[in-house]
Amino acid sequence: MIIGVPREPDPDQPLVASTPDTVTSLIRLGYEVMVEHGAGVDSSFPDEAYAQAGARLGTREEVWGQDIVLSLDTPPAECLDLLHRDAILISRLNPGSNPELIEDLHRRRVTALALDAVPRISRAQSMDVLSSMANIAGYRAVIEAASAFGRLFTGQVTAAGKMPPARVYVIGAGVAGLSAIGTANSMGAIVRATDLRPETADQVESMGAEFVPIPAATERSDSGYAKEMTSEQATAAAQLYSTESAAADIVITTANIPGRRSPVLLTAEDVAGMRPGSVVVDMAAQGGGNCELTEPGTVVHTDNGVTIIGYTDLAGRLPAQASQLYGKNLVNLLALLTPEKDGQPVWDFEDDIVRSICLTHEEDILWPPPPVTVSAAPTPAPAQEKPAEEPAAEDTAQAEARRKRRRGLWLGVAALAAIVLMLLSPQEMAGNYVVFMLAIVVGFYVITAVTHSLHTPLMSETNAVSGIIVVGALPAIGSGHLAVQIIGMIAVFVASINIFGGFLVTHRMLAMFRKDA
Ligand code: NAI
Repeated sequence: MIIGVPREPDPDQPLVASTPDTVTSLIRLGYEVMVEHGAGVDSSFPDEAYAQAGARLGTREEVWGQDIVLSLDTPPAECLDLLHRDAILISRLNPGSNPELIEDLHRRRVTALALDAVPRISRAQSMDVLSSMANIAGYRAVIEAASAFGRLFTGQVTAAGKMPPARVYVIGAGVAGLSAIGTANSMGAIVRATDLRPETADQVESMGAEFVPIPAATERSDSGYAKEMTSEQATAAAQLYSTESAAADIVITTANIPGRRSPVLLTAEDVAGMRPGSVVVDMAAQGGGNCELTEPGTVVHTDNGVTIIGYTDLAGRLPAQASQLYGKNLVNLLALLTPEKDGQPVWDFEDDIVRSICLTHEEDILWPPPPVTVSAAPTPAPAQEKPAEEPAAEDTAQAEARRKRRRGLWLGVAALAAIVLMLLSPQEMAGNYVVFMLAIVVGFYVITAVTHSLHTPLMSETNAVSGIIVVGALPAIGSGHLAVQIIGMIAVFVASINIFGGFLVTHRMLAMFRKDA
């Protein structure tokens, strides 16, 4: 089949659905590709680059008339008119709020796949254009904030005086929020963040921010999206947002509940309580905005000197990379649809992803899809004869007893070996054994009390200690006493495992950051 990649009909849309790089991948899947003249110009991809990648260039009519058309947004009627019967349209189609479009596509007998309906399950992550765009937009939101903010993000102590770091507060720690947190943190700001879903706390902290919980928010979400707040949560949250925004220099709001208007989290009063020079970036502007004063698509300057940015095209402000990610998501989707890599899509409606995004196919309207069951654990095998719980509980108890017996055996062997060594060792070694035992106790408590994020520096520390052990053990190997020699050799061996293991782990970690990896 031939894939058509048009120039986006909306002149304000700089992105393109396929880049020269992703054209190559589409060709590897067995497709031919035709790109409209000038399709990638606004994303800095000239026609020549597409031709070099193996695409043909064509007119608007030719491209929209191909078997499969890849697009960014809901095409206008004049483009839909160019699609042929049984064509496949893959685009963001906002199906939840567009029932007329679904009817229209059905009437035209077009197979329509809505990229903005990809379910949020792990397997679909590589096709999730909303996440790709939100990630880029979160980065750009911080850049826009930094540009409007009249100070540095990072704190500095200079000869001319001290400059405090900017304080950034992010509301909503989904994809966009986490990206904004990471960016602001890397620019040196002090970042705090709140989310309705308490399970995001770890992610917020791993991005270098402090999680500020909503006191009443205890509900976990299985879907990866938030549920609507209870009135108790809303009151607690409103109070929190008010206090935090008054203390922040920059507030980035990303709160979003699918299928609903964005919740208003910052009132005019909250904005009035912010310091002059502060900036609000309302990423949810498109859905109505999280700030009462936001005007979608534009910038508002309030009387008290606060700038409210309501851009709805943040990802489009980084068009080359946004197009590349969007194109890559499409390649991943087409790879799923083309298992034989023969340029022929296969329609497997048993597949959760295919079923969720397909709006219309042949004679059928397939929207809305059945809910996708999110399961963190694999589905358990059906029970055979006995009730499933009894044997499972018995197995667990037996396994636990076996583990305990093994542990006891090893401890016994270790204790026996220690006693034999102590008996064989000369009298003057007794003090060393006491030090050794104390070191084990102290080491156990130090290591178990150190947080995971500090394990790398801890590893360097233990490498240094292991070096000292090797130096101390070498004279022991040279002593005339057999037991001391054995202990010395064991010490050198065990300390060497730590030293060389440390090198190996460091080597592997560095390899992860190597560009050619
Ligand atoms: P997401 O659904 O992954 O994240 C939203 C987060 O907000 C969730 O973690 C949710 O728990 C949280 N949330 C919802 N209500 C909340 C509340 N009242 N208080 C605190 N947290 C709350 O969404 P994603 O992908 O991160 O997108 C965020 C927003 O950014 C969306 O509104 C999206 O439309 C918008 N966006 C805007 C762009 C632009 O150019 N302005 C570009 C891309 C996305």
